[in-house]
Amino acid sequence: MEKVTGRGRFATHLGVVLASAGSAVGLGNIWRFPTVVGDNGGAAFILVYLGFVLFLALPVMVCEFLMGRSSRSNTVGAWKKLAPGSPLVAVGYLGVLAGVLILSFYSVIAGWTLDYTYLSLTCRLSGEQNFSEVFSSFVSNPWKPLVFLSLFLLLTHWIVVRGVERGIEKYSKLMMPLLLLIIVVLVVCSANMPGAEEGLTFLLRPDFSKVTRSVVLNAMGQAFFSLSVGIGCLTTYSSYFNRSTRLVSSALSVCMIDTVVAVMSGFIIFPAVFSVQGVSVDAGPGLVFITLPYVFNMTFSAVPVLGYIFSGLFYLLLVLAALTSSISMHEISTAFLADTYHMKRRHAACIVTAVCLVLGIACSLSFGPWKAYTLCGMGVFDWFDYLSAKLCMPIGALFISIFVGWIMPQQEVRDQLTNWGALPVRLYSLFRFLARWVAPLGVAIVFINELFG
Ligand code: PHE
Repeated sequence: MEKVTGRGRFATHLGVVLASAGSAVGLGNIWRFPTVVGDNGGAAFILVYLGFVLFLALPVMVCEFLMGRSSRSNTVGAWKKLAPGSPLVAVGYLGVLAGVLILSFYSVIAGWTLDYTYLSLTCRLSGEQNFSEVFSSFVSNPWKPLVFLSLFLLLTHWIVVRGVERGIEKYSKLMMPLLLLIIVVLVVCSANMPGAEEGLTFLLRPDFSKVTRSVVLNAMGQAFFSLSVGIGCLTTYSSYFNRSTRLVSSALSVCMIDTVVAVMSGFIIFPAVFSVQGVSVDAGPGLVFITLPYVFNMTFSAVPVLGYIFSGLFYLLLVLAALTSSISMHEISTAFLADTYHMKRRHAACIVTAVCLVLGIACSLSFGPWKAYTLCGMGVFDWFDYLSAKLCMPIGALFISIFVGWIMPQQEVRDQLTNWGALPVRLYSLFRFLARWVAPLGVAIVFINELFG
C-alpha cells in the first residue's frame, strides 16, 4: 500500500486518463484544430499533425508525467526536487506564468462560447441575422463578454476548489464521456447534411503539394498546444498519479482521445461548412462563431428549433471541453501556491482566479474599447497568446525533454517508466531516443519558427 500524504490522489486509473485527456481536449481541438486544418489545406495537414503528436508531443508528455510522479510536486516543486539549485527551476516558474496567461485569454474565448450556448438555447441565433455582425458586436461590447468571462472563471474556480478527487476527477469522469457522446451525435448529423461529401473529401484525400514548410511548422505547433505540453500542467496532474499508474499507456490513451476529438471536430465542421454556399473553409478564428450559426440555420430552415438545439449542443460541447482544460491550467498555479506557501487550496485558488479575472478583462477589452492599444501591432489578447503558447510552451518542452533525456538519473527514468520493474522494459530505448533526440530537436524547430517566423 502506498503511504498516504497530504496531497490529493486520483482514486482510479480511469480518473487519471480522463482528467489528463480533459486537460488536453479543449478549445484547441474543437475551435483551433478545424481553423488550422481549414487554413492549411485539409487532409495532408492532418497527416503531418498526427506524425507530430506521435513523435514530439507524446514523448514530452511522458517526460512531464515522469517528472510529476517522481517528484510528487507541482511544476516548480518538481524542478526544485529533481534539479536542486539549478537554473532549470526557472522553467517551473515559466510554466506557472504561462498557465495564468493562457487561462486568462482562454477564458475569454470560453466566455464567448458560453454566450453562444445561451443564445442558441434561447432561440436567438435566428436565420435572418448577419452572424458576422452578431459576433463582432458581441466581442466589442464593453461589458457582455466580461460577464461571460467571469462566469466561466467562477465555474473553473468552483471545480478546482473541490480538490483533486471530489473536483477534478469527479467532473472529468462526468464531462469527458458526455463530450464524446455529443461529438458522435454531431458527427452523424453533419455527415447527413446535403453536400457533406465535399467536406469529407477535404478531410480524407490528402494533397501533398499543399505541405509547405509553414504547414509543417503549424502542424507541430498545434500538436503542442492541443496536448497541453510544455508548461508543467501534466507534471502537476501526474503528481496525483498512483505508483501503479502506467505512464506510457496513460500518455498514449490521452494522445489518442485528444486526436480522435480533434479529428471528429473536423468531421463536424467541414461537412457542415461545405454543405452551404458562400462559406469558406479558411474563415479563421471566426469559423466556429460566425459560420456555424449560419450553417445550422440553413440546414434546419424547415424546423428552426432543431437548429437551435443542434447549435446549442455544439457550443455546450465547447464549454465543457474548455472547462476540463481550464481547470488543469488553474491547477498549475493553485497547486504551486498551496504547496509552496502552505496555503489552503481554497485561498490559493482565490488568488489565481482573481489574477486571471483581471488579466482576462484586459484581454477581453482588447477586442472592443481597448482595440486601439497595441504594441508591435498586437493587442493584449494577442500578446498573451504569443507569450504563453508561442514562447513559454516551446521553451518549457525543450528543457523538459532535455532534462529527462540527458540529465535526470536514468535509473529513476527507467523505474518510473516500468513502475519499478513491474512492466516490461521494451519501450524504454525507444522512449530514450525520442526524449533525447527527436523531441528536443523538434521542439527547437517549432520554437525558432514561432520566434523568428
Ligand atoms: N490543450 C488545451 C486545448 O486543447 C489547452 C491547454 C494548453 C490546456 C495548456 C492546458 C495547458 O484546448
